[in-house]
Amino acid sequence: MSKSKLIVALDFSTIEESRLFLDKIRGADCRVKVGKELFTSAGPKIIDLINEFEFEIFLDLKFHDIPNTVNKAVKAAAGLGVWMINVHASGGKRMMMAAKEALISSNQKPLLTAVTILTSLNNEEFLELGYKASIENQVKKYALLAEESGMDGIVCSADEIKLIKPFLINNNFKFVTPGIRPKNYSSNDQSRIATPENAIAEGSSFIVVGRPITLSNNPKEVIDLINKETS
Ligand code: C5P
Repeated sequence: MSKSKLIVALDFSTIEESRLFLDKIRGADCRVKVGKELFTSAGPKIIDLINEFEFEIFLDLKFHDIPNTVNKAVKAAAGLGVWMINVHASGGKRMMMAAKEALISSNQKPLLTAVTILTSLNNEEFLELGYKASIENQVKKYALLAEESGMDGIVCSADEIKLIKPFLINNNFKFVTPGIRPKNYSSNDQSRIATPENAIAEGSSFIVVGRPITLSNNPKEVIDLINKETS
């Protein structure tokens, strides 16, 4: 099991592109994340490919559906032997509990986390959705609901951790934080961002980094640098 807190987002569209990239980072100390684009185009074969490279996998499919459907989807995802899977907290407590229930009866038990408010959303876009609370208060609400529903942790922005942590009972609750940008790197479409160092200082258990690594000419070097900054 990797000691690194880094999860590299494999946001590619094909197996071939993924293989080329995995070859470049072979042996690096990190985990990898498979999201909707890659899993939709490549299917479970992508999991077999990554297993060849011996990286632990976060299958980031962000399930959000009726409880019965999510229960079945989680069962199928766990069956792939991945390290972490996730659902959207906005699916509600009954949906999250149905997800958890699927793992109780499964031989494979990946970590199960809940996405709170996507780190790409800014305040204006958030209000447009009709929420009355601030982003921070809504994230806190979802975090507490996720804990009550038996989730192992949440996906949130690094600067939201300090607002949530004091209210949680589970000391081992995981904070997975995307929206990470090394200093001087473009924010792209992310809104609520942090540097790798800051994210860990704020209490992130795992940081998710995509484009700053996948678009680099020397991704392994960037991984080593981030590991150095965050260990
Ligand atoms: O390239 P970048 O570092 O922005 O990639 C971030 C990754 O984290 C993407 O794969 C995205 O789907 C994922 N993610 C996110 N915000 C969340 C949850 C996941 O950006 N709340």
